[in-house]
Amino acid sequence: MQKERGLWSSKTGFILAAAGSAIGLGNIWRFPYIAGENGGAAFVLIYLVFVFLLGLPYMLAEFSLGRAFQLNTVGAIDKIKPNSFWRYTGILGIITSIGILSFYGVIAGWTFGYIFKSFTASSYEGAAGFSEFVSNPFYEIFLFAFFIFLTTLIVYKGVEAGIEKWSKILMPLLLILLIILIVYANLLPGSEKGLEFYLLPDFSKITLKTILAALGQAFFSLSLGLGLMVTFGSYLPKDTNIFTASVFIVIFDALIAILAGLVVFPALFAMGENPASGPALVFIVFPKLFAQMSGGSIVGGLFFILLSIAALTSTVSLLEVPVSYLVDEKKSERKKIVWKVAVLVFIIGIPSALSQGTVDFFTNFGIIPESLTSKDFLSQMSFLFGDFLLTAGGLALCIFIGWIWGAEKAVNELIIGGNNFKKYSKLWIFLIKYIIPMVIFVILLSIFRI
Ligand code: PHE
Repeated sequence: MQKERGLWSSKTGFILAAAGSAIGLGNIWRFPYIAGENGGAAFVLIYLVFVFLLGLPYMLAEFSLGRAFQLNTVGAIDKIKPNSFWRYTGILGIITSIGILSFYGVIAGWTFGYIFKSFTASSYEGAAGFSEFVSNPFYEIFLFAFFIFLTTLIVYKGVEAGIEKWSKILMPLLLILLIILIVYANLLPGSEKGLEFYLLPDFSKITLKTILAALGQAFFSLSLGLGLMVTFGSYLPKDTNIFTASVFIVIFDALIAILAGLVVFPALFAMGENPASGPALVFIVFPKLFAQMSGGSIVGGLFFILLSIAALTSTVSLLEVPVSYLVDEKKSERKKIVWKVAVLVFIIGIPSALSQGTVDFFTNFGIIPESLTSKDFLSQMSFLFGDFLLTAGGLALCIFIGWIWGAEKAVNELIIGGNNFKKYSKLWIFLIKYIIPMVIFVILLSIFRI
């Protein structure tokens, strides 16, 4: 059975795939712009607390459910509580994946487009360069379509293993490049102000919006809340130490985000850009930084290549969620269904692609109030699917695992192949049953008062 469903043959393959899903635009594109919009350091601090207090333990819960039943989320839920409404928790995850992929693919398309923009670096004027870039709707939609096409091709052919091997070389390279950029950005005059904004918390800036954004970002960045890690866990052999693997993934993911911030904020203040520039932020700041470097067009091109690949390992995992559900539960034919899902994602994503100043209607969409997120369609989608539904799904799944399946059973699964988890098991049960659901519930409820 495992052979048939198997995506990866080794433990490192699994860690790479899970880390590949987690590390992506969420770390380098979304984290800095959300931090910038939410006042900087205070947000960063809350984000880190959520990553380790809620994200890490919750990740163990998703993996344990998957490995125990060797099924996707809906399948596992149906095994535990047949025909109950709990299965909609899994379905919600599927809908959320499609929603996230629709706007994520747009940004991935930008990243891809910026590879060429960097190598041919003729116009590198930050904000103006970006506006010019998105002013051509056909090009932008083409890039978006291309990226979705690439993702679909990979999921269609099932060659994930290939990109995993690549990411083994490329992700450390991304890390090294980020470190070089940190040094460079922090040597620019005026950059200290950026560090201050990013690292010295001003607690008076903490609002409900900040807390909600930090929670959403923690789940988004770790690819949690959709049941994606349940599916990943279902492919795992029993001797894998889930605890150790999760600690590694979480630390690495948080590290990349923190490093990205150490480039963006110092550079941004040195160059007089606005931290609250929204989704365009890193596409304004990074190119401006490359423009100042000698050999910057090569460094820039390399950077956007690495970022595109990081994005690709995430989009593949996002598309895999609806596809594996339809294949496992609805007996759809994989090769047909991937293209259908991809077309749906593409159609839903078009308004996001046109929302950064290209079409007025989508630029000033604003159904969700401005006290929660910006008005453009992309930010609204990012909030609805990437923050709200993601964490709401995580809440439901956490209650299901903690109370319906039983946190004790999850512990039994986690200690198989993971002796070092034993000493934390009591604390973990307490977090999963009480702390995590309560914290998420209270934060989500507060939205309706904002
Ligand atoms: N975690 C990915 C990133 O940070 C995005 C993602 C979210 C992927 C949810 C899968 C599921 O880029």
